[in-house]
Amino acid sequence: MHTFPTYRPRRLRSNENLRRLVRETALSIDDLIYPMFVVHGHNTAIEISAMPGCYQYSVDTLVTAAKELAALKIPGTILFGIPASKDPLGTEAYADDGIIQQAVRAIKDAVPDLLVMTDVCLCEYTDHGHCGVIEDGDVQNDPTLELLVKESLSHARAGADVIAPSDMMDGRVGAIREALDENGYENIPIMAYSAKYASAFYGPFREAAESAPQFGDRRSYQMDPPNVEEALREVALDIEEGADILMVKPALAYLDVIQRVKTEFQVPVAAYNVSGEYAMVKAAAQNGWINEERVALELLTSIKRAGADMILTYFAKSVVEWIND
Ligand code: PBG
Repeated sequence: MHTFPTYRPRRLRSNENLRRLVRETALSIDDLIYPMFVVHGHNTAIEISAMPGCYQYSVDTLVTAAKELAALKIPGTILFGIPASKDPLGTEAYADDGIIQQAVRAIKDAVPDLLVMTDVCLCEYTDHGHCGVIEDGDVQNDPTLELLVKESLSHARAGADVIAPSDMMDGRVGAIREALDENGYENIPIMAYSAKYASAFYGPFREAAESAPQFGDRRSYQMDPPNVEEALREVALDIEEGADILMVKPALAYLDVIQRVKTEFQVPVAAYNVSGEYAMVKAAAQNGWINEERVALELLTSIKRAGADMILTYFAKSVVEWIND
C-alpha cells in the first residue's frame, strides 16, 4: 500500500459523488422490518409515551398502518399483541380468535403482499409477565415448548408469513419447525431470536406490550450481556434446529455479536434495533441535543456495517422518508 504523500485518503472524500462511489455500506428500504403493536377495540391508536410516533393500534387502524407500510415499500412488519385478559398459561396467545390471529387475518386480507411476521412469546399474555410456564418460581422450559408450538401453529393458520420465536427457551426452534412441517407449513420460515440478551433496553417495549415481569427478571432464560461465545453456540443450535434467519437483539450494544455471527455462519442475520435504542434517540432529538435523522441513519448504518442483512426498527417509516428525500 502507498503511504503519505503518494496516498492521500482525503482525495476520495473531496466531494459527494466520489464519496458515493467508494461508500462501502448502504442502508436500503429493502432491509427494514417495522414492528407494530395491536390491542382489542375499534378505531384507536394510542401513542406509546416512551416511543413517540409508535402506537397501540386496534385491528382497523392497524390495517391502515399496514397499507402505509406497503405504500412506502417496506418489506414487512412484525406484530406484537396485547390481549384482553391475561392468565398463568397465556391462553390468548394461541386462541384462534386472539388479537394477533385477528390482526394477521385482517392485514393479509387487505394488504396480501406485505410480509407479516409474528413474535411468538408468552410474556404479553401471561399474568405473571414471564415468557413461559411458571413452577417453583421459575420458567419451566419443556412445558413451555408445547405452548409455543400451539401459538406458532395458530399464527400459521391465521396466515403469518414468518414465525419469530423470542422466548429464549431451549429447543423451541426445533419443536416449532417440526410442528409447522407436520401441519403443512413447511414453507413458512422461522426467524429465531437466537442471541437475545437480558437487556435494560427493552424498557419502553414493556410499556408498549404491557409485558413487564411481575416478579424477578428474565435472566434465567435471556442471555447474559457480557457473553459472545455463548451467542455463537445459541446460533449454531438454532441453525441445527432449522432456523432460517438468525437474530441478534438488541443491536447497538451488540454490534460485535452481529459481526461474529455474520462472519462465522453464512446465514441471513437480523438485528433488532430495540425500543430503548429508539427512545434514547427520540428523547435527545426532542431536546434539540442531537439531529434525529443523522443520528438514526448513522446508527442503522452501523448495524448494517456490522453484518446485519435486515433490521427490525421503529425508525423504518422515517428511514424511507429520509432516503427518498
Ligand atoms: C418478547 C419481546 C420483547 C421484545 C421483543 N419481543 C421484550 C422482552 O423480552 O422483554 C423487545 C423489543 C423492544 O424492546 O423493542 N419477549
